[in-house]
Amino acid sequence: MKIIKNIEEMKIQVNLWKKEDSSIGLVPTMGFLHEGHESLIKRAVSENEHVVVYVFVNPLQFGPKEDFAAYPRDLDKDSELCARNNADVLFAPEASELYDKDAATFVNVERLTEGLCGAKRPGHFQGVCTVLTKFFNIVKPDRAYFGEKDAQQLAVVKRMARDLNFDTQIIGCPIVREKDGLAKSSRNTYLSPEERTAALVLFRSLMHAKEYILSNDNVTVQEIKSLITMEIMKEPLARIDYVEIVEGENLKEAQEMRGPLLIALAVFIGRTRLIDNISIEI
Ligand code: PAJ
Repeated sequence: MKIIKNIEEMKIQVNLWKKEDSSIGLVPTMGFLHEGHESLIKRAVSENEHVVVYVFVNPLQFGPKEDFAAYPRDLDKDSELCARNNADVLFAPEASELYDKDAATFVNVERLTEGLCGAKRPGHFQGVCTVLTKFFNIVKPDRAYFGEKDAQQLAVVKRMARDLNFDTQIIGCPIVREKDGLAKSSRNTYLSPEERTAALVLFRSLMHAKEYILSNDNVTVQEIKSLITMEIMKEPLARIDYVEIVEGENLKEAQEMRGPLLIALAVFIGRTRLIDNISIEI
């Protein structure tokens, strides 16, 4: 496996592949790779002749009070994981090369970014969409792989690709969890042992909500939101950022518990903000 740090070199490799008419899969990441990322890499390797995993902690998608500086980084371990899974290239450019100080162009998806994490993290999705557009233009992937763990991100990226006629197919992959249900995340490393136990409240409350929905008729959106909120509030180390139930594709607030729905949470455990979600079809 090659490690490429320079944009020009990446483009030369991509052009060679394109000349051979081979397919390219891209797995965008911010590194500190775990089994969640690994599942996307495995899927990409199984569906494409060549796979690029990129590692780039994108300053543009972090708010001024967020954890950009503290975000965990370990390129050596990341490259081992990529090599083990038969990726062709680990692409890790420097921010100074990727972003021109003079940049005046940003990609903004409207409406879908107004609620959920978009409401709590102003500018976040503009940062995500702008960086992905840049990487898509450099790597020219046939397919790009995203986790359902970041359900809003997946919906936003799908819409961006459709609205802007990208040649890249956006593929969503299921959430990978720890044995006890906690969704794998690079940010789980911030948790102390007590916080790690408290963090289980996200998945537990979602599972209880699902059981309740499946075993009761005519439940309301408010009832389910209250059920989840009350369960999380019982956990002393947890502080709710949001609990929302939205329509599957357009992420509009659900008025009734009908159709494909996404139940999504963001909860601070101590100082660490964690997200989780489940999709249900009623
Ligand atoms: P990052 O948080 O590193 O996640 C990279 C990809 O891995 C995302 O598509 C995310 O949804 C997926 N992922 C993370 N944890 C997962 C899990 N437990 N199960 C399944 N998939 C999981 O998301 C980003 O980086 C950035 O916003 C990025 C898209 C790279 C743009 O900067």
